[in-house]
Amino acid sequence: MPEAKIAPSILAGDFGNLASECKRMMSCGADWLHIDIMDGHFVPNLTIGAPVVTCIRGAIPKGDSFFDCHMMVSKPEQWVDDFAKAGGDQYCFHFEATSDPNALIDQIHAAGMRAGCAIKPKTPASAVFDLVPKLDMVLVMTVEPGFGGQKFMHDCMPKVEELRSKFPDLDIEVDGGLSAATIDVAADAGANVIVAGTGVFQAKDPREAIALLRDTVNK
Ligand code: DX5
Ligand code: ZN
Repeated sequence: MPEAKIAPSILAGDFGNLASECKRMMSCGADWLHIDIMDGHFVPNLTIGAPVVTCIRGAIPKGDSFFDCHMMVSKPEQWVDDFAKAGGDQYCFHFEATSDPNALIDQIHAAGMRAGCAIKPKTPASAVFDLVPKLDMVLVMTVEPGFGGQKFMHDCMPKVEELRSKFPDLDIEVDGGLSAATIDVAADAGANVIVAGTGVFQAKDPREAIALLRDTVNK
């Protein structure tokens, strides 16, 4: 299994001070920064767009931190170039939001980003099997996308197990409800990229919380 990458979700941070929240997470040992983009259509919530990501990138040089952009949007094709220009490192679209995932993956790679594909809790893992050879990551959602602070859905773990057994070298990300209380099952199932919002930002010691997530995956 590829090594652990811990990606705090800045959705749980202070949006009035996004760049300093990102820097704080980096200094606490974050491997990636997970940036949740919601358009009010694909999910019933709104967050930020490329102009805000551009501002964060202005404060954090490319290479200092990996921006993992989780695109909870209805038209993922529309924003690829904007997020590449904004300094995104990975563009993770939702399988449910596109009719031509192959073309979208090509578009993302041509823009110079890694391509990820996310599946909602009700979408089977088999939906992405044929795409994996072209993908850099699969994100198995462990909550219904749209909001932070929800309860981890244990019943999504068989999908992680299925993907891990078929694709031993694939980056498999889990997102939603990850914390010290749920990391064991996620790591046992085979997830190696761990998104945690409230689990890190509300921890007494975010540095310790990140280290525990990483150590559990790498053990
Ligand atoms: C939910 C988002 C998640 C969310 C995770 O739609 O994709 O990234 O911020 O937050 P927690 O870890 O609090 O469940
Ligand atoms: Zn997310």
